Amino acid sequence: MFGEWGKTGTTIEYKELGTDSSLGQKTTMKLITAVIKPFKLDEVREILVDLGMHGMTATEVKGFGRQKGQSEMYRGAEYEVSFLPKMKLELVVPDDAVDAVITAIQAQARTGRIGDGKIFVTECTGVVRIRTGEVGVEAL
Ligand SMILES: Nc1ncnc2c1ncn2[C@@H]1O[C@H](COP(=O)(O)OP(=O)(O)OP(=O)(O)O)[C@@H](O)[C@H]1O
Ligand SMILES: [Mg+2]
Repeated sequence: MFGEWGKTGTTIEYKELGTDSSLGQKTTMKLITAVIKPFKLDEVREILVDLGMHGMTATEVKGFGRQKGQSEMYRGAEYEVSFLPKMKLELVVPDDAVDAVITAIQAQARTGRIGDGKIFVTECTGVVRIRTGEVGVEAL
């Protein structure tokens, strides 16, 4: 923990004890955003739970990649499809789990066909577990 929550009168404030990121937490986490084929969601979830990940968020989204959304699911269709349904999976993980998480997602989500998706890695500067007040990696 690199800071602490405290109450000053009626206001709850976060007091920085450590570094200068937005929540006063050291940056030791990454946000992994994976856009995958929707039917792969359960398998990907399962392997991530097996890896010890505590939580994740899945959102139904629409997108396109290099093929511009065409000829992927609608091969031979006369009409133009610009966005195809995808599942976006977001999870924040400790830095030392990033490689394993990426490898696991790729292994489970890959079919070898176009549209298998992409994995993005972003710095995550802070996390707060609302119920307990834990912050940083402990809050994941
Ligand atoms: N550069 C990008 N930025 C944001 N989202 C992207 C990007 N590229 C792909 N996506 C998202 O990922 C989904 C799947 O992309 P897709 O796998 O088709 O990428 P691709 O580069 O076309 O690879 P492939 O040739 O294997 O199909 C897209 O529908 C879109 O939602
Ligand atoms: Mg594509």
